[in-house]
Amino acid sequence: MVAEGKCLARHDNMVVFVAGVAPGDVVDLRVTRKKKSYMEAEPVHFHELSELRVQPFCEHFGTCGGCKWQHIGYDTQLYFKQKQVKDNLERIGKVPLPEFDPILGSEKTRYYRNKLEYTFSNTSWLTKEQIQSGQEYDRDALGFHIPGRFDKILDIKHCYLQPDPSNAIRLEVRKYAKEQNLPFFDIVKQEGYMRNLIIRTANTGEVMVIVQVYEDRPAEMQALMEHLAATFPEITSLQYVVNAKGNETFHDLEVVCYKGLPYIHEDMEGIKFRVGPKSFYQTNADQAYELYKKTRELANLTGNELVYDLYTGAGTIANFVARQAREVIGIEYVPSAIEDAKINSQINNITNTTFYAGDMKDILSDELVARHGRPDVVITDPPRAGMHEDVVKKLLQVHPNRIVYVSCNPATQARDVEWLSEKYDVTRVQPVDMFPQTHHVENIVLLTAK
Ligand SMILES: C[S@@+](CC[C@H](N)C(=O)[O-])C[C@H]1O[C@@H](n2cnc3c(N)ncnc32)[C@H](O)[C@@H]1O
Repeated sequence: MVAEGKCLARHDNMVVFVAGVAPGDVVDLRVTRKKKSYMEAEPVHFHELSELRVQPFCEHFGTCGGCKWQHIGYDTQLYFKQKQVKDNLERIGKVPLPEFDPILGSEKTRYYRNKLEYTFSNTSWLTKEQIQSGQEYDRDALGFHIPGRFDKILDIKHCYLQPDPSNAIRLEVRKYAKEQNLPFFDIVKQEGYMRNLIIRTANTGEVMVIVQVYEDRPAEMQALMEHLAATFPEITSLQYVVNAKGNETFHDLEVVCYKGLPYIHEDMEGIKFRVGPKSFYQTNADQAYELYKKTRELANLTGNELVYDLYTGAGTIANFVARQAREVIGIEYVPSAIEDAKINSQINNITNTTFYAGDMKDILSDELVARHGRPDVVITDPPRAGMHEDVVKKLLQVHPNRIVYVSCNPATQARDVEWLSEKYDVTRVQPVDMFPQTHHVENIVLLTAK
């Protein structure tokens, strides 16, 4: 098992990357891509099945791109995630490593997400079996994109990722739209009405539903909203967006709150986080709590520290650790996320946080350090690309006592750790699983000044 959840095989001294198999399978492969140093292939015939395999529980497994590792057991998934972190730190980081802490598995391995986004389409994906059957199928779909296909949507009957009422709401919206002849969107022709459905379920029990449509049809929208409000009284935030753009993003559009509040709340140790339609919040909230507790533990805060929380998003880590620190400075690119971060401090009476919006390599400056002081601890949680080289250089210059590096990409984390090893030792490594049934892994590295 190697990067991106693919398996590695060898043929004539050439490596072959294969998706949809398990280590130990004996298979015939069809090459789908040939490069100078490697090939990609797909299985066409299985001679022997690996002992690591288990029966996938979802009828959409194999077609849907959502849970590509359902065919291997959870303990095996955890083993390979931990190995992925170790391989990257050893091969790319090339630094002395302590013994790893065992990966923190997610207690929930199904129904662990608090947000799902479904797309409407009038050209649903048909499986090979459906095409071969010669039968006519309803081509309207409400579900997920087929991997690599922007124009094809798999109609989802049941999704194991988000707890109820997620499935019930999606099925009801689909049924209602069909009954009322509300046309499902045609992405190629850019026409139709029903575009997208977002469901957010918080650990406080609050539920947000956002319906996205292509054009303004007030009467139809009111009837749909009324129907949803009456059928699901548990929806605490019912919203819609009219989006006539070429894509489904709505960060630049008005979101209309039809019923309830324009946001919901997540709760962590009594700290409330307000989550609006455009806000980012970790999608596995229970496991985010475990991740943040570990991050705080590794930061080893006593109440006297100045902490910089880099790539703070909506200030979740910053606010979570604020009560154990003297002061926390949060920095993030997206201005609306910084607005959320400030609100989250306010509504929790947290007064020792300051947030800045902008590019990290510009904001993390000598001037900022002169204004607030040299941090004792830096917590950093960059996007998949890792930290910009200038940011790493600045960290080496600012030289906090401890850097707690949280990452969703072990390869870029390993690269950054190698750069930081000029002045830091890796003293703890704690992988965390946020996304069961997928190959994704989160990892925390504690770097201690030499
Ligand atoms: C992995 S998320 C961190 C989320 C946050 N720590 C949390 O737990 O909710 C990475 C964040 O980095 C931000 N980001 C990406 N590039 C950036 C940059 N160049 N400067 C500042 N922030 C950036 C993204 O907008 C995103 O919010």
